[in-house]
Formats: sequence, C-alpha cells, structure tokens
Amino acid sequence: MEHIYSGKVRDIYELDEDRLLFVTSDRISAFDVVMSEPIPGKGRVLTALTAHWAAQLADVAPTHLVAVGVPPGLDVGAAAISPAFAAGRSMVVRRAEMLPIECIVRGYLSGSAWAEYRRSGTMHGEPLPAGMLQSQQLPGPVFTPSTKATAGHDENISFDEAARLVGDKMASAAREISLEAYRRGAKHASGRGIIIADTKFELGLIDGELAICDEILTPDSSRFWPADRWQPGSAPPSFDKQPLRDWLEATGWEKMPPPPALPPDVVEATRTRYVEAYERLSGLSFGDWPGTDR
Ligand SMILES: Nc1ncnc2c1ncn2[C@@H]1O[C@H](COP(=O)(O)OP(=O)(O)OP(=O)(O)O)[C@@H](O)[C@H]1O
Ligand SMILES: [Mg+2]
Repeated sequence: MEHIYSGKVRDIYELDEDRLLFVTSDRISAFDVVMSEPIPGKGRVLTALTAHWAAQLADVAPTHLVAVGVPPGLDVGAAAISPAFAAGRSMVVRRAEMLPIECIVRGYLSGSAWAEYRRSGTMHGEPLPAGMLQSQQLPGPVFTPSTKATAGHDENISFDEAARLVGDKMASAAREISLEAYRRGAKHASGRGIIIADTKFELGLIDGELAICDEILTPDSSRFWPADRWQPGSAPPSFDKQPLRDWLEATGWEKMPPPPALPPDVVEATRTRYVEAYERLSGLSFGDWPGTDR
C-alpha cells in the first residue's frame, strides 16, 4: 500500500488505480495550528458521520464511499497502523478527479463571510441586504465557493470566478448538488437541535460523474451550533471545538506553533463534544461504532 498524502487530518494510501484508503487520524487543529495531543476517537467520529451522511444523501448525488473499514486481507502493517486502530477510522473510496474549488454552502452569516460583509456589504463578492447581523440566517442557503489552495489560505470567490475555474456547466452542477446536500443535512440536523451554519463539500469526477468526496458534513468541515444557543448579533459557541478554543484563549497563547500542551480534561471535554455531535446527528450510540483509539 503506497502512502500518497497526509493532510492535517487524513492519511491517504493507494489501494489500486481506482481506489484509495482514507485513514482519519485523531489530530485536531485550532486557529489553524495542529495540536500536539490527539483527541482519542475523533477520527472515528468523523468517519462515522461521513458514513451516516453518505447514506442520507445517496439520492442527491453519488459519493466516493465504497466501504467503511480496511479491506479483508489488506496488510495494514505496511502503513504502520494496527487493524483495530484502523477499523473504524478507515474508508475505501473511489479515486476522483477533484474539482479545484471548495464547494461551501452558507445558511448563516459567519466566519470569513461575516468579516467580508462587515468590510464591504458583500459575501464572496455578491451584495447582501443591508443591516444584517453576525450569525443571522441568510434569506436562503447560498453556494459560496473558494479556491483550493495547495499552500496558504483558500480564497473566497464568486460563482462566476468558480465558473471560470471549472466551466459553467460544472460550476452549476456543483452548486445544485452542494445546495441540495446542505438543505438535506440542515433539515435533518435541525430536528436534532443542531444548526449547520455552513459547510464545505469537496466534489470530484468519478467515471465522468460529479460525486461528493472527502468528509461529509462533519464538525471539521462545518459550523455546528447548538440551536438553543443561537442568537443573531453574537457568535454561538461551536459545537465541537469550543472547550478547546476557550482553554487556548485563556492561556494567552499567540496562536502560532508550537501550541501549548493540552491538559487531559480539555482533551476529554473535546472528545465528549465530538461524540455528542455524532450521537445527536445520527441517533446512534458511538459505543457501537467499530475500532479502537490506540
Ligand atoms: N475521492 C477522492 N479522490 C481523490 N482525492 C480525494 C478524494 N476525496 C478527498 N480527496 C482529497 O484528499 C485530501 C483529504 O485529506 P485531508 O482532509 O487531511 O487534507 P486537506 O484537507 O487537503 O488538507 P488540510 O486538512 O491539511 O488542510 C484532500 O486534499 C481532498 O481534496
Ligand atoms: Mg480536508
């Protein structure tokens, strides 16, 4: 098994010409810095949620997911990961030709979109109504793509700029799939007390057809807010990383590497939030999900 890429969170191996093995680690980043301590179980939570949504969205578009787990008989030793560790955090996926854009959908005004709106009254270059508040719900979900930077930060772009990068037809198809997947996800989540403020899909071509790839509607790719804490005019606590962010802010850390060592109670509180996000959204018990964390 050839190791072909490691991102901040995932380690990717090539199984054959057509298929990749995604192994999702327990690494966590905050303020764009990867912490030195893993959050045990986080990679299994992200994998479990992605599998949950892939099933929920099956009629919106194809996804890249072939199967959760490591294919029987595959020597994971080659990748220096034990079978029990790899089990619940691995996915076999179809290799896709990824679009060079990130397919962001925003239902609420937050993050970099709120910063832009405050500066110029626009969101990804398009005008918005005057007088909107931070975290306010947008008149309807909006497809707000960004570039997919290989180095540095992704840049927010307009739909027209995305169309110049991938072509009109492809950009329109990506917008349709992303909006529908967001609407489905947001509706499902709202019944469980969670607002999906925004999310980022990564789409790619598999056998010439546009498919949802990467992770799907996870706390790492989305802003999840507890619905009972949402109030326009302020930033609701994020569902997952808030205990970590609060602790980091309180230490006075400058948000540059190296990060401070995380105390066990912060690690545990963060793990609990990730697990709760999965259990609330899926209605399933994380205890039933396969694999171990070491
Ligand atoms: N089916 C697929 N075929 C090929 N590449 C894929 C597929 N699905 C996702 N990818 C790519 O695999 C990578 C996933 O790894 P990961 O999420 O760790 O890294 P990243 O998001 O690129 O970088 P980082 O998280 O460090 O910013 C991404 O580059 C993503 O675009
Ligand atoms: Mg990623």
